[in-house]
Amino acid sequence: MARGKLITIEGLDGAGKTTLASALHAALQDRGLDAQLLREPGGVRAAELIRGLVKDPALEISARAEALLYAAARAQLVEEALEPLLSAGVIVLLDRFVDSSLAYQGAGRELGVEPVRSINAFATGGLSPDLTLLLRVAPSVGRERSLERAAPLDRLEREAEPFFARIAAAYDELARSEPGRIYVLDADQTPADVLTAALAALAPLL
Ligand code: TMP
Repeated sequence: MARGKLITIEGLDGAGKTTLASALHAALQDRGLDAQLLREPGGVRAAELIRGLVKDPALEISARAEALLYAAARAQLVEEALEPLLSAGVIVLLDRFVDSSLAYQGAGRELGVEPVRSINAFATGGLSPDLTLLLRVAPSVGRERSLERAAPLDRLEREAEPFFARIAAAYDELARSEPGRIYVLDADQTPADVLTAALAALAPLL
């Protein structure tokens, strides 16, 4: 059986990743494709528990510990869900993956992109997405959208503006360095236009 495809969706908080992920999932299923939607951190039980930890504003978590927690959640997701699904030929849509750690912990927390890349290579066994959709939004717009949500801000969303500016710059740099894998989408468009552009980017893969 042909191996499935791993498609990741990346961007700042408030970029519209989750909206795009569910719209894409529905569009692929409508075409009769075997697609599954997962999120990071999470997707399997141990990783969902880690998600609760890293998002908890009441917890003190150092930058290195934070990077390792995301990597641990990812290692579990890869082994328990991603590898079995990809081996079974499923198209996996994943809301965030390694690029989030490179941008948030590597650049946002200033741990350095390369050390964070190394711990993630260990965590994932080298699994890399077939395609990454990067929803590009100005940090101020992402921030406004996060604030408009009814939910209280989580531990990361409470960070100040320079943290998100570093993350946005790191995402841009990743997109420049891997143009064959990372496809940039303008998140200022309507959700319907973002979906159309995402489906066009996916077409050669499917
Ligand atoms: P979200 O899935 O609701 O966007 O929440 C995940 C939060 O965790 C978000 O603020 C981004 C952050 N994050 C990292 O800092 N590093 C990571 O590796 C991942 C997957 C998420």
